[in-house]
Amino acid sequence: MTIYLNGEFLPIAEAKVSVLDRGFIFGDGVYEVIPVYSRRAFRLPEHLKRLQHSLDGIKLANPHDETEWTRIVEKLIARNEGEDQYLYLHITRGAAKRDHAFPNPPVPPTVFAMSSPLPTPPAALLESGISCITAQDNRWLRCDIKAIALLPNVLLRQMAVDAGCAETILIRHGSEDGDAFLTEGAASNIFVVKNGTLLAPPKDNLMLPGITYDVMLEIAAANGIPCEVRRVMKAELFSADELLLTSSTKEVLAITHLDGKPVGNGKPGPMFARLHSLYQEYKHNVMRK
Ligand code: PDD
Repeated sequence: MTIYLNGEFLPIAEAKVSVLDRGFIFGDGVYEVIPVYSRRAFRLPEHLKRLQHSLDGIKLANPHDETEWTRIVEKLIARNEGEDQYLYLHITRGAAKRDHAFPNPPVPPTVFAMSSPLPTPPAALLESGISCITAQDNRWLRCDIKAIALLPNVLLRQMAVDAGCAETILIRHGSEDGDAFLTEGAASNIFVVKNGTLLAPPKDNLMLPGITYDVMLEIAAANGIPCEVRRVMKAELFSADELLLTSSTKEVLAITHLDGKPVGNGKPGPMFARLHSLYQEYKHNVMRK
């Protein structure tokens, strides 16, 4: 695999980063995951905009403008295997003497990117749907930043794996238990379907503004599917007709079991079938342009 590191394209085995890198020491950095279809990065401007939002959130200057990022991305895709790829961008505050405060004067950031073949969700998963568990969302209050410091997400996802499930759906608790509401998955966004309406949690500081989430809402609106973007209560999650999971790597999947109980009739429902096919259509149309 050829990777990009600080201006150079290198075989991955030759790429080296200092042990004092603040990404390694503090998790002080941000990242992006971008799906590549037919060797073209999907929604690249939107991903670069979110990257800018994350960089602003950690007060780190963007090392490249959109043209430079596009050039790096295109070269990386061309140098790696697979028509469909999984592109990863990662920027840290660079290597400096260990001190929590930012290095002063600033040091050059570490800019890393890699791309590997994108495994598409297996057909069996689309037919059966996935099982998920719920857990308390114990992350910080800036979940809108795509930070590389992912320990809470790692531990939350592992809870699902230990339970033989695919994902952990996160619930924030207000002051009363009745206030408990859905935020997102450990590495995905979650939609609730009730009486033919798609319910989506709002893009605030408590969730990552998913690029796939935006595509879902856009294609739903364009096809007359009723949507409500608002706080979704825990009780609504458990009385849903259908639950959907989205991410750049999973696209859209039906959640058919939650905490061991069937969602609706325990099979992928009509909203999933419709949105999955509209998403495939959208993707193919965009990539053909
Ligand atoms: N994660 N929420 C969280 C916490 C995520 O980590 C992700 C994606 C999403 C979905 O966002 P998008 O549709 O833009 O992929 C929501 C990526 C895939 C990852 O960390 O590997």
